[in-house]
Amino acid sequence: MIIARTRKDLNKTLQRFSQKPGKLALIPTMGNLHDGHLSLIRLAKLNAVKTIATIFVNPLQFGKNEDYSKYPRTEKVDIQKLTKEKCDILFIPTDKNEVFPENENLKKIESGKLGDELCGKIRPGHFNGVLTVVNKIFEIIKPDIAIFGAKDYQQQILIKQMAENLHPSLSLLKAPIIRSKNGVALSSRNNYLSEKEIKLASNLFKCLENSVSSYKKNIRLCEIIENAKKFLISKNLDPDYFELRDSKLNSIKDNNFNGKKIFLSSVKINNTRLIDNIEF
Ligand code: PAJ
Repeated sequence: MIIARTRKDLNKTLQRFSQKPGKLALIPTMGNLHDGHLSLIRLAKLNAVKTIATIFVNPLQFGKNEDYSKYPRTEKVDIQKLTKEKCDILFIPTDKNEVFPENENLKKIESGKLGDELCGKIRPGHFNGVLTVVNKIFEIIKPDIAIFGAKDYQQQILIKQMAENLHPSLSLLKAPIIRSKNGVALSSRNNYLSEKEIKLASNLFKCLENSVSSYKKNIRLCEIIENAKKFLISKNLDPDYFELRDSKLNSIKDNNFNGKKIFLSSVKINNTRLIDNIEF
């Protein structure tokens, strides 16, 4: 795997790879890689000849009181994992100037109304920061394909909207959620949890599954949501939101919706926020 730490190195490598035929697939990450991230690399390799991952903990998407400084940085192990997956290129900038150089105009992307809902309501400005960095990474790398996980469903939808406008020839792929045996969606933030908290966290997936089966049994939606929130609280999971939406994240208010839909939730367990969802 070729490791580029500066824009200059990256450009040279991309130039060299552009002479090889075939598509280039991009997997943007913030590192501390787990099987969820690696599943994206595997999906990339099934869909493209050349793969590039990025590892960059993007300061723009963290709020003032969030975990930017303590976000797990595990560069050495991440490189080993990507090498094992036979990823071709890794862009892991030495510092933020390699992504946002001071002498370059920064195009700030606004995430609009949807960016202020669900996770955006609890993390004001978060999705503007995500879209701004992802757009910048798309501009630098110019991939043919980019892959994002369904775990961050709202992020994936907002990136899709942004890319349709600004990068119309780019194909986006959505990768399924990878979970641990007890159902907890893999996440770098699970590292903040104790064993006891991980056990409690598994109730989030249970709650989503129960809600799907209740909806299929035609139990009233408001009842399902009320029960879900009560259940979460009883397991020490403090719900920020628990909602049913359609696949584009428009609200659904009743039980007669036939199209693809999704239960989404964010909960706090002590100081750690976890998100999960189920599409059905
Ligand atoms: P990060 O949290 O590192 O996630 C990188 C990618 O891995 C995202 O597309 C995310 O949805 C996916 N992912 C994480 N956990 C997953 C799981 N359990 N199963 C499947 N996919 C999973 O998301 C970000 O970084 C950042 O916001 C980023 C897009 C890189 C912009 O900074």
